[in-house]
Amino acid sequence: MRRNLAAGNWKMNGTAAALSELDKLATYLSPDDAETVICPPAHLLFSACEKMRGTGIAIGAQDCHSAASGAFTGDISAAMIAETGATYVILGHSERRDAHAETDSDVAQKVRAAWGASLTAILCIGESGVDREAGNALDIIQKQLAGSVPEGATGANLVIAYEPIWAIGTGKVPTLAQIVEAHDFIRAHLISRFGQTEGDAIRLLYGGSVKPDNAAEIFTAENVDGALVGGASLKADDFAPIIKALPQA
Ligand code: 13P
Repeated sequence: MRRNLAAGNWKMNGTAAALSELDKLATYLSPDDAETVICPPAHLLFSACEKMRGTGIAIGAQDCHSAASGAFTGDISAAMIAETGATYVILGHSERRDAHAETDSDVAQKVRAAWGASLTAILCIGESGVDREAGNALDIIQKQLAGSVPEGATGANLVIAYEPIWAIGTGKVPTLAQIVEAHDFIRAHLISRFGQTEGDAIRLLYGGSVKPDNAAEIFTAENVDGALVGGASLKADDFAPIIKALPQA
């Protein structure tokens, strides 16, 4: 059985003062809640890991370089992230694909690097509004899965986040039928490539304008195993009800 996962992506938000939100979140959660991971900006990784030790809340990064080390000013390697105590890394977010021109093949290399450092990759895919309107959403998803998910994916080393670009930060959410269609399609792709056991074990998150008032409906879909949440993960008071809308298993 897949354990549900609530992941918070703080993006480029939060100074050290924001760590108090983690303390607050920890007081709200119990062992009966879904697995929770917070991905703060890189400068907070170490202190976030220290603070959350023993709480059950995991910490993740938002990107890594594909190389182990070298002359890559401003970048951070997967091993460096692991050294902070973080156990997850978001890769291939549409904001990085767009603003940093990351290709599927770049993303696949980063996923391999993450696995080399024993990090679980939260790999983001999703179509633009133009592609959705043109009826190409599933083709885009198929292309991104084929190009950015390397061989060797398992339920332990990979989580896929389906984040339609047009739903990110816009307040627009796909219909439940659209979410079900995309997630069922992703599941079928993973099973066909990695076999029934691993394909079934990889968790699929929905992301894009998830809020306390729409989470429960989204989580009714069989192949939605949680959410990747941006804005509503910044405050414990908003994120906790989303986590609690997820059944533990
Ligand atoms: P919002 O929840 O703010 O729409 O962001 C989604 C997202 O991009 C998470 O990675």
